[in-house]
Formats: sequence, C-alpha cells, structure tokens
Amino acid sequence: MSSYFVDTTLALFKVNGEICCLDNTCLHRGGPLGDGFLEGNIVTCPWHGWQYDVRRGELLIDPSVKIATYPLRVEGNEIKVAV
Ligand code: FES
Repeated sequence: MSSYFVDTTLALFKVNGEICCLDNTCLHRGGPLGDGFLEGNIVTCPWHGWQYDVRRGELLIDPSVKIATYPLRVEGNEIKVAV
C-alpha cells in the first residue's frame, strides 16, 4: 500500500447511497463546493450559485464544462480516492 499527498482539496457527496468525489474548488472563482447545498445530485456553490452534477462533474448550464471527478472505493471505514 502506498499513500501520498496532493495539493488539492476534494469534496465528497452521498447521492442515493453512492459516494461521489470531485474537486472542491469551483471553476468560477474558487468557491468551496464541499460547503455548497446538495439537492439530489446537484450541488450549488455557496459563493455565487454555479451548479454541478456531482456524479459527472458537469456544469449544469453548460455540460461541456466539467470539474474534475475522481473514482473511489470504500474499504471498511476508509474512503480511498484515486487522484
Ligand atoms: S465561486 Fe462558485 S459560483 Fe462563483
């Protein structure tokens, strides 16, 4: 097993029992998506309201714009994210 640190923060969301992971930094001006409001599979950035699909990272108003998403797996009490 190997562990390392990366220079980014991640946001985790639970949608219908599925955990989704995406970059925590909003593409608009860097708002913390992990502090946003989650409704269904859509998170709203707490700073200016941009909305993303947390499963695919797509910006709601322009799905061609995507924030990074990361695959993960749950092992016991740990969530392991592939970054
Ligand atoms: S920083 Fe997220 S909407 Fe502006």
